[in-house]
Amino acid sequence: MKHSALCRPLQGLFLTLLLALLSSHVFAQEAPLTEREALQAQVLAGVCASCHGTEGRLSGVIPAIAQRPASVLESQLLAFKRGETPHTTVMERLARGYTDEELALLARYFAQPQAYRPTQP
Ligand code: HEC
Repeated sequence: MKHSALCRPLQGLFLTLLLALLSSHVFAQEAPLTEREALQAQVLAGVCASCHGTEGRLSGVIPAIAQRPASVLESQLLAFKRGETPHTTVMERLARGYTDEELALLARYFAQPQAYRPTQP
């Protein structure tokens, strides 16, 4: 019993890494966001900015997320949502509030070179 309780977080980590590897392979080519997708993503990403910085680039205790490959961000977010990432503070609860499609969109959004420009004219 004790053994499996210890292994579970490790399994989650392993799955996350495996997912990241697999999806980065499959989705190596990123399509740019359409105007509509970019608008939707900006609304969804507003809440992320309060912790991850306005462009997802804040450095410090909270990890920066901007401009990482979308496939990596997506698998991290899905792993949070499914409770597969051990020792999270807020991301597990947060990620549950989004559909898988919204998480994929957020991942593509933060992966862009010019991620999150709230004051664009
Ligand atoms: C209340 C603060 C807060 C908000 C809001 C927030 N995050 Fe996070 N995020 C964190 C913290 C803290 C971590 C580290 C994992 C943990 O403790 O949950 C993290 C980790 C992450 C990671 C993994 C980064 C890594 O290298 O491990 C990603 C990806 C991420 N967040 C994306 C997002 C997205 C997308 C949003 C908006 C939907 C968001 N976060 C909103 C605090 C926040």
